[in-house]
Amino acid sequence: MTFSRRDFVKTSVIGSVAAGIGATSVFPHASAESGQQGHASQKETSKRPVILCANNGLAYVEAAYAALKGGADTLDAAIQVVKGPENDPNDDSVGLGGLPNEEGVVELDSCCMHGPTRRAGAVGGVRNIKNVSMVAKAVMQHTGHVMLVGEGAERFAVDMGFPRENLLTDRSRKIWMLWKQFNSDRDWWGPGIADPHWEPPAPDKKPQGELWRDRIQQLQQQAASLGIEPEYQLAAVRRILFPPTGTIHCSALNDKGEISGITTTSGLAFKLPGRVGDSPIIGAGCYTDQDVGSAGATGSGEENIKVAGAHTIVENMRHGMSPQAAGMDALKRIVRNYNGDMNKLRFMDMTYYVLRKDGAYAAVSLWEGYSAGHPHKFAVHDGTLRSETATPLLQGYSQEWPPFPPIPEELKKDSEYLK
Ligand code: GLY
Repeated sequence: MTFSRRDFVKTSVIGSVAAGIGATSVFPHASAESGQQGHASQKETSKRPVILCANNGLAYVEAAYAALKGGADTLDAAIQVVKGPENDPNDDSVGLGGLPNEEGVVELDSCCMHGPTRRAGAVGGVRNIKNVSMVAKAVMQHTGHVMLVGEGAERFAVDMGFPRENLLTDRSRKIWMLWKQFNSDRDWWGPGIADPHWEPPAPDKKPQGELWRDRIQQLQQQAASLGIEPEYQLAAVRRILFPPTGTIHCSALNDKGEISGITTTSGLAFKLPGRVGDSPIIGAGCYTDQDVGSAGATGSGEENIKVAGAHTIVENMRHGMSPQAAGMDALKRIVRNYNGDMNKLRFMDMTYYVLRKDGAYAAVSLWEGYSAGHPHKFAVHDGTLRSETATPLLQGYSQEWPPFPPIPEELKKDSEYLK
């Protein structure tokens, strides 16, 4: 390995001092608290039915919407959407092919709420079962509990007829190997000193742009030597440099005003075994109240748990806030938890999806996205299927953890996967 974890620690200190941050601290939507502000992602129309979900559900919404119009249950329609990415081995944020924990094991989380019957179900840290959204629903329907975790949840799923299968696809396994190699300067993973391409750690004298170029090039070469397909190598590199939190949320509202929500995820890539984020936590990853509406989240799970995001949003709407104002308030609580310190806030991000019982909806995000031209998007169907852009609280782009120095903008322009 030519670039060690120690090198990153050193350069990140230098870089954060030298480069400052790529984000500003203004609140462009501060007036949203009034609930009066109009925006593309804030719709006050009262169309029903409505399906609202994270953008990775887009391809599955049309069929679920047809089912909803045909009388399908709202939770079943929402699950129909999220099952798409769960079953897709090429979506590495959820279900089959989700990125694994640090030991190479895929662990999935999910929770759901069924508005009409005011029930909830959840599972956390489930291995070997891909459709955890359906397992969460089964917990709700077939037990007197709300949440099962780990081995017990897996055994319950098998008892309910869900097949055990290996969730680690070959590609996700290779990305995990790449992550291990990249982070390895204190163990025996990765090419050793005998490898013809091995070089001692480079001195930190190069400009950040060059260091980033080297890092990306080395990772891409390693991705190639691990057999990751050429068209996927840069995406794999991005996942190593910025482990994603994955996740899909979907809320569905029918023409009778019944509403339900579901969130499912493989969680933070390369997490500690046993870590669960916000997705299986009722009130954080998802919350639905038949009297008010439904909300869900994707993004930095640890931050969302601390503000009980989905529950906060539904309560805000109960007290009269619009969907957008309700979501903005939850984001501001995250900002408040760090006293507005942008040096910390830039390493986290959060998107909330908010659907009110009358069909009004919004999606809001902490940052605009992770780079210019790639805003946070969401999918909505209220008779017309489309993707819209979430309204950001903060101007600028998040940087994901771990805290490397910011990638220079000119390099982002050159490198397709960083755009
Ligand atoms: N929001 C997904 C997670 O943090 O696991």
